[in-house]
Amino acid sequence: MTSQPPDQVGDNYVLPTGREDKSRLDLIHAVYGRVSELGLQAAAIGAVSRAADIGCGTGTVSRWMAERMGASGRVDAIDIAPEQIDVAKSLAAAPGAASIHYAVGSAYEPALPETAFDLVFCRLVLCHLKEPEKAVAQMAKLLRPGGRLVLVDLDLRDIFTMPPCEFYPAFVAEAVIPLQAAIGVDYSVGLRLHGLMSEAGLATQSILADQPIIREGPEKHLWEKTWTVALQRAVPTGVMTLERGQELIAGMERHTANPDVWVAMAKIFAAVGRKPS
Ligand SMILES: C[S@@+](CC[C@H](N)C(=O)[O-])C[C@H]1O[C@@H](n2cnc3c(N)ncnc32)[C@H](O)[C@@H]1O
Repeated sequence: MTSQPPDQVGDNYVLPTGREDKSRLDLIHAVYGRVSELGLQAAAIGAVSRAADIGCGTGTVSRWMAERMGASGRVDAIDIAPEQIDVAKSLAAAPGAASIHYAVGSAYEPALPETAFDLVFCRLVLCHLKEPEKAVAQMAKLLRPGGRLVLVDLDLRDIFTMPPCEFYPAFVAEAVIPLQAAIGVDYSVGLRLHGLMSEAGLATQSILADQPIIREGPEKHLWEKTWTVALQRAVPTGVMTLERGQELIAGMERHTANPDVWVAMAKIFAAVGRKPS
């Protein structure tokens, strides 16, 4: 049961939410959908009747799971930001999909029934949490014996371009690393997914990694777009001046405007863990 309002049990999320963020979350899915879907398939999404999506954002993966599960299934999707839930509720699932029950809730105190879920999914939330191990322990409690947890998260340090440019590594060194230290999160938490599974009493079944390298389309600009909005929240922490951040992002934009430049997205991991029967 939730003992406090959800917005008081989360951490300081540095990105926008709601309509303002929908197009960025769509880009995230265009880039990272492939590995997420492979992780869900490894967790036998097609044979699942009850699933949860923790930190569901605007519900992109909740809808994808619901479609694979079919009409008899149920997805419970929670997010700490009411604006995300409002947008998610306004978007219809495919005909014949499982029912989706959206609610405002925290990964730390999900307020969902324990040992009730065949599958729990969580993408790009742990990297925003000060205590990812506490959230993963809660997710493990939601699983029935034999149920599976799919964690998808990244290592933000190895974004690069071909040919190389100085602006991406400089932004990581001058903004990303100091910001994670200042707010107490880990933007490389993807490297710890096996450890988090083990700590929560789950047996890691598989770990996939993906690092899409992109030459064209809006996906190529995911990190410029993300860092432009994150910069507004990073500046007040004192890690970087607005001018320096804008200078680096403008450098990235000049470089990636060249159609012969390829951008390697942050590497992402999809780990599947199983609760002992
Ligand atoms: C990068 S978005 C990912 C959204 C979604 N999982 C996806 O992949 O499209 C991170 C989401 O985590 C949510 N979030 C942040 N802290 C949270 C917490 N403590 N509990 C639940 N959701 C949280 C944010 O509101 C945001 O919607």
